[in-house]
Amino acid sequence: MAKKNSMTFIDNRTGKSYEYPILEATRGPWVVDVRSFYKDTGMFTYDPGFTSTASCNSELTFINGEKGELRYHGIEIEELATQHSYLEVCFLLSQGRLPDKEELHAFDLELRHRSFIHEGLKNLIESFPNTAHPMAILSSAVSALSSFYFEHLNINSEEEFEQMRRRLIAKIPTLAAFSYRHSLGIPFIYPDIERSFTENFLYMMRAYPGGKMHIGRQGEEQIREVEIEALDTIFTLHADHEQNASTTTVRGVASTGAHPYVAISAGISALWGRAHGGANESVIAQLEMIGSVKNVAAFVERAKDPDDNFRLMGFGHRVYKNFDPRAKVLKKLQDRLSDELSLDSELIMIAREIEKIALNDDYFVKRNLYPNIDFYSGVILYALGIPRSMFTPIFVIGRTVGWINQWEEFKKDETSKIARPRQLYIGK
Ligand code: SDX
Repeated sequence: MAKKNSMTFIDNRTGKSYEYPILEATRGPWVVDVRSFYKDTGMFTYDPGFTSTASCNSELTFINGEKGELRYHGIEIEELATQHSYLEVCFLLSQGRLPDKEELHAFDLELRHRSFIHEGLKNLIESFPNTAHPMAILSSAVSALSSFYFEHLNINSEEEFEQMRRRLIAKIPTLAAFSYRHSLGIPFIYPDIERSFTENFLYMMRAYPGGKMHIGRQGEEQIREVEIEALDTIFTLHADHEQNASTTTVRGVASTGAHPYVAISAGISALWGRAHGGANESVIAQLEMIGSVKNVAAFVERAKDPDDNFRLMGFGHRVYKNFDPRAKVLKKLQDRLSDELSLDSELIMIAREIEKIALNDDYFVKRNLYPNIDFYSGVILYALGIPRSMFTPIFVIGRTVGWINQWEEFKKDETSKIARPRQLYIGK
């Protein structure tokens, strides 16, 4: 008899059996559909942290944790990060295919024109104390953006989806750069539509009041091609990553019908945590705290000690039980650009020593703990002169295109419902 594409659960207390369909994936693990489990059995499945739970179906991003593989719409991350620009990747995640030359040119031009923000948002940013972390300002500013484009609460056409998405992708770098300038107490630099997406961000971060770029001693412009290329690659590597904690947050807010921009603001807040996007900032702090290669072994021992809550930031991942493919791309980028970007060799040597010890230590090997994207991104951002407080805002700039397309995928899924898990009650 042909095997049925299903799974049967048997309750050993009663001998009753319950059968559930298996749904096939085009890549990676299949799922057993337990949506009627509570109705059938009066019990819940239990999976805090969702280690074995698929919360949705999606065609945007595929990750193979065992192989260390990452694809956007089927194209491998290494190809995208080394042969395509971040704007091409934004187009791919939004349209499901890479753009042709004309489409890319039109997309680029539109983002440049939409990079300006309402003066009211500038005033909001100025209302924060200079000591405010740029992530606090960014999540508030993106939530406030919903008031300036309130019509996107009810989107009824493809054109409006596209307009809502492009507005946000274009304005995030401006909001992030303004947040940074405010934290220094220096005047904001408005976007320059003659500069590309990634160059413009560095320009808004670095230019002097009046928009003049300080000409370096050799007379060169202070934004070098190699820096633009490095940051563009970092944006691409951060663009999307399946159902991580912040994307799950975005989908959760999408499920209640709130405005898309407040869903992204919630994603920014979730990303800030040091277990997630905040790790890149913590990696550099940790490398500086370790201070020298000779101290590494002692810190690795601390990371292994169950009674010590010290963890190696930038190590481990819920999905990758092999090298994070993004970390591999960044490591090659580091090697390639170490001279041109005068990467901090001491920090890199400490990072390499951590990697060398940890990858051969049974504690890490047994738990499949490998360097993740955050382990390497910090060193390059540090070399780009990006201040540590801006590392996670840069993650936000890269990830916004992923969040907003995951939001749209949720809204277009007729089977989607409000996110409302249950619990194992252990109270009185
Ligand atoms: C990102 O999900 C995504 O896709 C996220 C992300 C994205 O693009 O969106 O990839 C971006 O957030 C990358 C991860 C950045 N975070 C860090 O680098 C912080 C340090 N890493 C950890 O906190 C941890 O590894 C997590 C949070 C990343 C994953 O946590 P899990 O999957 O819940 O794993 P766990 O906490 O259950 O750890 C399993 C074991 C534990 O030991 P035992 O209890 O089994 O003895 O591994 C140990 C942990 O103590 N462990 C570590 C460790 N990470 C896990 N021990 C030392 N150092 C570490 N970094």
